[in-house]
Amino acid sequence: MQTDSSFTFVLFGGTGDLSMRKILPALFEAHRAGGMLADSGKIVAVARHAADRGEYLQWVNEHVKPHVSKNGVDETAWASFLERIEFVKIDLGNPEDFTLLRDAVKDLPGIRVFYLATGPSLFVPICRALASVGLNENARIVLEKPLGYDLKSSNAINDAVGEIFAEEQIYRIDHYLGKEPVQNLLALRFGNALFEPLWRREWVESIQITIAEELGVEARGDFYDNTGALRDMVQNHLLQLLSIVAMEPPHSMDSDSVRDEKLRVLRALKPINQLDIGKVAVRGQYHSGVIRGNAVPAYATEPGVKQNSTTETFVALKVEIENWRWAGVPFFLRTGKRLADRVAEIVVNFRSVPHSALGASALRAGANRLVIRLQPNETIRLYCLAKQPGEGMNLASVHLDLAFDQFFREGQMEAYQRLLLDVINGRLALFVRRDEQEAAWRWVEPILNEWKALNKPPKPYASGTWGPAAASAMLAQHGTCWLEEEN
Ligand code: BG6
Repeated sequence: MQTDSSFTFVLFGGTGDLSMRKILPALFEAHRAGGMLADSGKIVAVARHAADRGEYLQWVNEHVKPHVSKNGVDETAWASFLERIEFVKIDLGNPEDFTLLRDAVKDLPGIRVFYLATGPSLFVPICRALASVGLNENARIVLEKPLGYDLKSSNAINDAVGEIFAEEQIYRIDHYLGKEPVQNLLALRFGNALFEPLWRREWVESIQITIAEELGVEARGDFYDNTGALRDMVQNHLLQLLSIVAMEPPHSMDSDSVRDEKLRVLRALKPINQLDIGKVAVRGQYHSGVIRGNAVPAYATEPGVKQNSTTETFVALKVEIENWRWAGVPFFLRTGKRLADRVAEIVVNFRSVPHSALGASALRAGANRLVIRLQPNETIRLYCLAKQPGEGMNLASVHLDLAFDQFFREGQMEAYQRLLLDVINGRLALFVRRDEQEAAWRWVEPILNEWKALNKPPKPYASGTWGPAAASAMLAQHGTCWLEEEN
């Protein structure tokens, strides 16, 4: 991916966790790879916890370097990367300080990108301060999730930012859209004639999408306790994956064609109401348990979490899409922290044959199944039935495997690297448009409201398991179960 686009990348929250773990390492990788970033491109870090550029670079050396290149840092590339970095000390609470930023960037080249790696409460004040010194013109703004807490607060942020930046200038990040396997899902569906004819209610019995984590809330107890899994993972990552799995073939891969199709799916989600909620939605919270041989504490005792918190760390849902392609096909979504494994995968269960000339074993449910694993290792596995060797016609389940790292040994890109390059190069397809975000909130909000009205504690589950039993019971009602692949 060669580029001539010069840029000035202004990073708000320059000493924050996200800058340290994701953004600066991703920019370094793009720099190290060569040819991805214009030589003249500059990074301007904005923070108040460093006195000057020297002190900031020292922080970058101490805190960012350990997060780059697992196989050791290329010291020459690292030294030239540091040369790209400028620093401006700004107190974000003081809009007058933004004149310092204006002066710092006025002679720097290329398109200006403002990346807000800050809490959402600062998004609007920063945008207004940028506008007050004329820095909003011809610039791009990148907003991290969470963008709001519900439909109203997300609209309030979008309205206020929208007064300063046009929609084409706004890049709302959902890092799942930058993951290589998610791109591959588009390639699988729309680059092959093989699957598309089967990708519909006539042939698909049900679909499962799982994002399971082994980690708990780590140091984010405070934030997470006011958020919960539905807002943190379902409203964005899971619904984005669902819309890519279920969307109609877009006319092209340009940003609005893809986003228009995803939006149609989000708007076709069947609302979950008071009558259904107990049957189609499960919320859980982790208790203590054991993960990979280590004892781990209960959510309620994690730092920053309120005593007797009723925040959910696990959600399972049965979702329906009200359109011709998917009517009647259940989509089972689940996500949780402190589960038995770290895995993200999509399982497409095909129907069994309508009539078996080969005996009952050919009528087995889920005999044909496509498993698309997004992480930890990217694989596609297609299950089918084959004859067992020997006498008689006995069928057994076998699978065809595709492990991407065996085909493509090089060129894999981390999600943030891809997304940052897209921002610099003005590609919007992998960013969430305002109407998509609104549609997702519109669907999620009634679930939050119903849960609040019910006022029941989440179902407990032991850390290191696959979540509350109720999540399995929900699938059992449909004659199926969660499918967990072996690594
Ligand atoms: C983030 C959530 O958006 O995604 C986190 O806020 C979660 O709670 C993370 O841990 C998971 O991302 P990944 O890429 O590690 O699956």
